[in-house]
Amino acid sequence: MNSTRRNFLKASAALGAACSVGFPDIWIKNASLAHAAGGEVKVGILYSLTGTTAIIEKSLNQACLMAIEEINAAGGINGMQIKPVVEDPASDPATFAEKARKLVLGDKCVSLFGSYTSASRKAVLPVVEKYHNLYWYPTLYEGRECSQNVIYTGAVPNQQQQDFVPWLVKNFGKKFYLIGSNYIYPKEENNVCKILLKRLGGEVVGEEYVPLGHSEFSSVIQKIKDTQPNVIFSTVVGDSVVALHRQYKAAGLDPAKMPMASLTTSEEEIAAMGGEFAEGHFTSAPYFMSYDSPENQKFVAAFKKKYGPDKVTNFVSEPAYFQVYLFKQAVEKLGGKDITPPEIRKASWDQEFKAPQGVVKIDPKNSHTYLWPKIGEAQRNGQFKIIEQSKESIEPKPYWAYPGQVCTPEGLKQA
Ligand code: ACM
Repeated sequence: MNSTRRNFLKASAALGAACSVGFPDIWIKNASLAHAAGGEVKVGILYSLTGTTAIIEKSLNQACLMAIEEINAAGGINGMQIKPVVEDPASDPATFAEKARKLVLGDKCVSLFGSYTSASRKAVLPVVEKYHNLYWYPTLYEGRECSQNVIYTGAVPNQQQQDFVPWLVKNFGKKFYLIGSNYIYPKEENNVCKILLKRLGGEVVGEEYVPLGHSEFSSVIQKIKDTQPNVIFSTVVGDSVVALHRQYKAAGLDPAKMPMASLTTSEEEIAAMGGEFAEGHFTSAPYFMSYDSPENQKFVAAFKKKYGPDKVTNFVSEPAYFQVYLFKQAVEKLGGKDITPPEIRKASWDQEFKAPQGVVKIDPKNSHTYLWPKIGEAQRNGQFKIIEQSKESIEPKPYWAYPGQVCTPEGLKQA
């Protein structure tokens, strides 16, 4: 069969599949835009290699590419190789949107893997929604989102804060100082923290937001000294994490009396700042590099072998890795069907994978992921000592702190 005819049949099959499940007109018009062809499955890789969040996003790029390499080496997906198209969105939301458009319309990728910040995810959303593509997002985030064009594999607040905030109150006290980078994620995440603190009789003694890339914390630290919180609750991201920890120590503050409790400080930022600056502070996440499981040993060993013996894995690179396997399983499940983003989305529901953190599963109700919350205390050697861990995987509830709203496969509904 000549290739024009084969492509025509592929496009017709895509159109047929789209019509039969009633996708909106825009998808039908663009049915030939993104489907696997030519014996390969093309995917876009959209993690910043430069700019203020490259400190963490480089590790997401690396973990994602490692998973693709492993899958291809083992025969690919139903005999097809995954072909990654890598872009550098440079920690800039507008560049994320521009590169996403190029990957969807130009390269015709059937899925994109990408983003650390919620600001960059929000910038990509209109692109994947308009062209009915699929965005695999591995980062912990604030919840309150229910896109039909995103698979969310990072933690939402009920998987990160639900146990953490009560644990902090019990062990350190009720006075919290909230510090975050100035964008949607820290503000929303801090709103959840405030809701929890109110239930626990706690108190917010200060709340401060600094620009992305901020590196001068002396005035914030002075306010912290003045207000004497029991806990500094941090959602500062990127390079700023390093500056904050170093300046905290230089100011003579003591983690045993006033620890930082973070949702965004991982082994990666600690490697950049030096373990002595993180020692004694706490992070809540579903994954730590020190977690003892055969799958994690394999993941860490493979990562070090590929990228160097000093490299660390972290709670965002792990989902960046396992979500590629969930994608593989979804495409595999499609078998002979045409491989289009909406079909991949449906095939991903209920997919399970034995990840380094434990068995994870995509919840068909909301396309978020069941995860294994843990609390870790940072050690001088740059690793976390795991001091609490959930005995079961925890259902993702993206609207958990906001009763009355619920995410469904058809979108947001009033409960
Ligand atoms: C984040 O912006 N979701 C870390």
